Amino acid sequence: MTTKMRSEIAEQPAALRATLDALLPRTGEVERLAGQTRQLLFIARGTSDNAAVYGRYLAEAHTGRLSTLAAPSIATTYRRRLDLDGVLAVALSQSGRTEEIVETLAWAKDCGARTVAITNGGERSPLAQAADLALCTVAGEEKAVPATKTYTTQLAALAVLALGLGADVDPGDLRRVPDAVEKLVGDPGDLEAIVEGLADKPGVVVSGRGLAFSTALELALKLKEACYLHAMGLSYADLLHGPIAVVDADTPAILVAAGEGPTLAGTVALAERVTGAGASAYTVGGGTALSSVSTAALNGPDLPEWVAPLGLIVPGQLLTEALARRLGIDPDAPRGLNKVTQTE
Ligand code: AGP
Repeated sequence: MTTKMRSEIAEQPAALRATLDALLPRTGEVERLAGQTRQLLFIARGTSDNAAVYGRYLAEAHTGRLSTLAAPSIATTYRRRLDLDGVLAVALSQSGRTEEIVETLAWAKDCGARTVAITNGGERSPLAQAADLALCTVAGEEKAVPATKTYTTQLAALAVLALGLGADVDPGDLRRVPDAVEKLVGDPGDLEAIVEGLADKPGVVVSGRGLAFSTALELALKLKEACYLHAMGLSYADLLHGPIAVVDADTPAILVAAGEGPTLAGTVALAERVTGAGASAYTVGGGTALSSVSTAALNGPDLPEWVAPLGLIVPGQLLTEALARRLGIDPDAPRGLNKVTQTE
């Protein structure tokens, strides 16, 4: 039986094409609203928060703007005003209906920020209505609880946002993404070996650096929610400051990197350190430099580093879906989770 999650993973090339068609012509609107802002504040939860990590690294590495993730409790629990003059607040929510996110965006506007919503919930969703500008993704309805196509289309919207903010990248790279994702759906690499390698393990560490850190966080969340695996998502810098101690024969590592860029060499060195400690080092992307030092490898997209996260998560989604089925779990409806979560 094909799961909804598997079908939705395969729908990503079409969802990305439709989203780019809708949003790329709107970079001028982003520029007019936000061109003069100096800092970015991302507001999100769950998978949307992992997308925000991509947005944060993209904004800092390619537009030179200081960026951070909001703590919504400052707005909704402590109810403290901050001076957000000159700040662009970007709220991400697949549903556009997570109350905490809508409330925090309204707080940011009240504190002086300009506001953007990125949502698959449509122009009439509460989040889109609360923002100065809504960038609506065109992923279609997502039925499986684990987010897949709504996540990658959020990344596409963030890439468009970065273009509107004057990012020092080639906009043409974005148009290559749907084909690269299609290729990965058809040929994700050594999925079966990694499914078997993880099936009897109590936990796993998932790590990446820079722009690929977002992929590591998102893959760890997928493995937790759909496979009930204790998956720790970490930047590899943080991993080296302590958590590497848990990596051993019972706790493998999954290491993620783009096929080019400044974080690849460090990820290769980390894979060698993991296997040197007697643990399995499974890899995602990183070209032959990384796959040649791995225990088993998933393929990455043939894309420049700045857009690689739009493809890097795809083999991880397929791994999650296959591992869930191998463990006898229905990935479409993990225990205790709903499509929309309210914090309080
Ligand atoms: C996704 O795999 C998770 N189930 C979770 O993060 C989910 O994406 C989130 O709770 C949805 O909230 P949102 O609609 O505000 O993005």
